[in-house]
Amino acid sequence: MIQSPVLFTAKNNLKFEIRTPREDEAQAALDMMVIVAGESPYILGTPESFAKRPVEGQVKWFQESAASDSAIILAVYHEGRMVGFCDARSYKDIKRKHRAGLGISILAEYRGCGLGRKLMEVLLENIKRFAGIQIIELDVMTNNQSALKLYESLGFKHAGVFPKAFILPTGEVSDNLSMYLEV
Ligand SMILES: CC(C)(COP(=O)(O)OP(=O)(O)OC[C@H]1O[C@@H](n2cnc3c(N)ncnc32)[C@H](O)[C@@H]1OP(=O)(O)O)[C@@H](O)C(=O)NCCC(=O)NCCS
Repeated sequence: MIQSPVLFTAKNNLKFEIRTPREDEAQAALDMMVIVAGESPYILGTPESFAKRPVEGQVKWFQESAASDSAIILAVYHEGRMVGFCDARSYKDIKRKHRAGLGISILAEYRGCGLGRKLMEVLLENIKRFAGIQIIELDVMTNNQSALKLYESLGFKHAGVFPKAFILPTGEVSDNLSMYLEV
């Protein structure tokens, strides 16, 4: 699926654009995720793992997502710079096709001004149009309280906790919480 541009003025009065990223922005998306992973211990990827991803794979992912009736990629831009990214897709196998998973990341300097909430809202509107969708789901490290609060405020319910699911490079241990939203 493709989202055409949505304009948004954040709490800090800065103006943002949310849309599906173009194929020629695939490297910018990887570069942004290298930064986010360096700033945020609570996402699965690391700066090294994002830096190693070939841009060709990212372009293929963008193309497949744009052509799919059950996948979407969105980015948020400030003055042309990509400052946030999110994506969602349904499982491909027939027994889980009614479920879609999502992920979201915002550069640290742009957090706390409403971008995460707005990006999630635009993402959820798109997911609700996925073929056969019934459940939207995600996993969050329980130590990631800002993300957890955002998801709860959007109506996501707690499905279950996997204890000590992650050991971060600092030694910090976090449980994993699976969350879901019925549509
Ligand atoms: C989680 C994340 C996407 C939130 O984005 P954001 O732009 O900072 O969020 P917003 O400013 O829209 O805030 C939305 C809600 O999140 C929660 N929140 C945001 N910052 C918070 C903080 N510092 N402490 C507690 N809750 C917070 C609040 O419930 C807030 O509600 P409000 O709209 O009533 O203020 C962002 O922090 C991020 O990208 N983190 C790094 C990557 C990450 O952790 N991704 C999620 C992995 S599961």
